[in-house]
Amino acid sequence: MPPRLAVLASGRGSNLRALFEYFRARPRSAKIALVLSDRPDAGALTFAQEHDIRAGVLDMGTGHSVGLTMMLEDAEIDLVVLAGYLKLVPSGVVRAYRGRIINVHPALLPAFGGRGMYGEHVHKAVLAAGARVTGVTVHFVDERYDRGPIVAQWPVPVFGDDTPQTLAARVLRVEHLLYPRAVEAVATRRVTVDRDGHVHGGARASLGHAAFALASRDDEELARDLAESLGHT
Ligand code: GRF
Repeated sequence: MPPRLAVLASGRGSNLRALFEYFRARPRSAKIALVLSDRPDAGALTFAQEHDIRAGVLDMGTGHSVGLTMMLEDAEIDLVVLAGYLKLVPSGVVRAYRGRIINVHPALLPAFGGRGMYGEHVHKAVLAAGARVTGVTVHFVDERYDRGPIVAQWPVPVFGDDTPQTLAARVLRVEHLLYPRAVEAVATRRVTVDRDGHVHGGARASLGHAAFALASRDDEELARDLAESLGHT
């Protein structure tokens, strides 16, 4: 039986789509068994319904933590995958699923993360800071926003004429490539986190897996990326 994933999403669900396509082609790695959202109008729910994935809207009231845990247990979920989920995961769920909840963030954490840093706010802050490099981070979820142990990161150049929208699109493309592979590495337990928050297997999994680490690229590829980041074409 492949590991069973629950995807939690608040928005349009393009990462859900990327995950779905990836695991549809690799059914033995993992299966998306449940899609949950805090928003009834989320595109992610429509996508789930169209693809026969069990889906539900979360009740964010007082019983939220218990309700979410029950839904996850009922669907026999092995790994919780946040994909554009804007709410803090309740601490009861974090405790019950420690080391089994991951998130994708559209910047290189710990920079440009934390409360209020989501969507366009992240890319606006990156541009306002004049940062030359941003990127994508996949991390385990703990009780704090965007601070859990890092599973994988991938840099993305920032260009002088970028707008929050052009930058978001460049980052999103990398999210769609990186996230399914990082999810696979955690779902199949090639990457794990111990009680002290140390991640094991991260670098090896990144290197072995579609070269998602800067050090694993050959010099020519790296030089091309670097030149491009300096405005050469
Ligand atoms: C992504 O940029 C993700 O990194 C962030 O929220 C956005 C979700 O986009 N956490 P989508 O709903 O997957 O299209």
